[in-house]
Amino acid sequence: VSMSSGARPRVFISRRIPEEGRALLAATCDSVAGVDGILCLLTDTINGELLDAAGPNLKVVSTLSVGYDHIDVKECARRNVKVGYTPGILTAAVAELTSVLLSPGIRAVENGEWGTWKPMWLCGPGLDGATVGIVGFGRIGVTVGRYLKPFGVASFLYHDSFQKPVEASELGAEYASFDELLAKSDFVVACCALTDETRNLFNASAFKKMKNNAVFVNTSRGGIVNQNDLITALQSGQIGAAGLDVTTPEPLPTDSPLLKLDNCIVLPHIASATHKTRAAMAVLAANNLLAGLRGDRLPQEVES
Ligand code: DGY
Repeated sequence: VSMSSGARPRVFISRRIPEEGRALLAATCDSVAGVDGILCLLTDTINGELLDAAGPNLKVVSTLSVGYDHIDVKECARRNVKVGYTPGILTAAVAELTSVLLSPGIRAVENGEWGTWKPMWLCGPGLDGATVGIVGFGRIGVTVGRYLKPFGVASFLYHDSFQKPVEASELGAEYASFDELLAKSDFVVACCALTDETRNLFNASAFKKMKNNAVFVNTSRGGIVNQNDLITALQSGQIGAAGLDVTTPEPLPTDSPLLKLDNCIVLPHIASATHKTRAAMAVLAANNLLAGLRGDRLPQEVES
């Protein structure tokens, strides 16, 4: 990377990332102090304290994720530090896994509870003829709808901070208030970013509004759910089942009640974990970092 000073820039990569991205970067170092750029993960908190530790050379923070709730974007903007993220390229992988989680597995096979074939055992709603509610109708939410449509979904409802008629028209999806979506949906799929508005959005009051056999799927961030309320809703039969790729905290402690429930499946935040997707994320994150070091606009820059 050529810089005006001619000096070789120093970057901090917080974890081993796919080689495709690492090869694009010129240097690594052990501490953020004095670096020009940081390539971070969703598990790294980038706040004022970290930015202070990095110091005034820092030009760019590039996260290997589409979510950037771990970054204090305002603090970065205040210091003229650009923020890059990886939207778009992981949409398909995340939507694919989200669709799979609509049929939560159970522990009966492992526990030895799988007895003779029983007509009414472990039945849940099917997609054919169902109403699917998508909360957060962005790239991933829309793609989940697209993937599910061929399964015979009767109607799609979506909720977001504003109506999205263009995206909705392809699916024939209807905008619904959050409460209406909860009340009518057989499957409630959370695809929204974690923000101040969505933190703890799925709480006891939300679960009470859902159908008793509804399936709740979350592949966005654990923080949009009040996890204790979810556990209660699953234990009491307030809702039918849940499929989660994200929890609070991560990793989820192995003694979490979520892991004892037959009507819940928990995956370890792997929705984007295909070789192709992670390599593309690494390349985009590296290119965001390199553009920031050059003082250029980032290929995918978070607007502050
Ligand atoms: C993201 O990108 O924000 C996902 O959580 C991990 O791919």
